[in-house]
Amino acid sequence: MGDIYPDLARVLISEEKLQERVVELADQITRDYSDSDDLYMIGILKGAFIFLADLARKLEVPHIVDFMALSSYGQTTTTTGAVRILMDLREPIEDRNILLIEDIVDSGHTLSYLYKTLLGRRPATLRTCVLLQKERDALDVPIDYLGFSIPDVWVVGYGLDFADKHRTLPFIAELKPEAYEGT
Ligand code: IMP
Ligand code: MG
Repeated sequence: MGDIYPDLARVLISEEKLQERVVELADQITRDYSDSDDLYMIGILKGAFIFLADLARKLEVPHIVDFMALSSYGQTTTTTGAVRILMDLREPIEDRNILLIEDIVDSGHTLSYLYKTLLGRRPATLRTCVLLQKERDALDVPIDYLGFSIPDVWVVGYGLDFADKHRTLPFIAELKPEAYEGT
């Protein structure tokens, strides 16, 4: 993508497409939670912070926002499957209506771990909203609201990073393989 973004191969999802889809997801969630006055949205840091901020501002049901941080791939793009909580929720979620917001499902280990962990805290309901899912063999994880299915490539932007870079691009772009090969 020219001189400005030498690490990027192409734009996969434009800013307009992202914003359109966020509005559709917010409409769907608003309908599904129209009877609820205690929607508790949990964003997974850091990747979901932009998606959550946009989505929450389009919702027309009362909701509160909290965050969790997990251990991730560190500086690389290879997964070990091991997940650890680095920062937990501020409140118990027992008997509450939980909507988990995640940036991307790749192998499925992160979402699967989170789902089991939160279910163990006995919420009234637990649903998941995921912006991107890669088309690849992965653990079978429950996704209630999905933004987009994408090819099995490394993507950055709109919250997603590579070694903490490119996170605040307003679109989703594919990283050039040579930018992460060998890591
Ligand atoms: P999983 O546990 O393999 O499903 O990976 C999920 C986590 O890995 C996500 O929450 C992201 O933090 C990170 N991840 C996986 N694929 C990508 C990608 O293409 N770009 C940026 N982060 C990714
Ligand atoms: Mg993440």
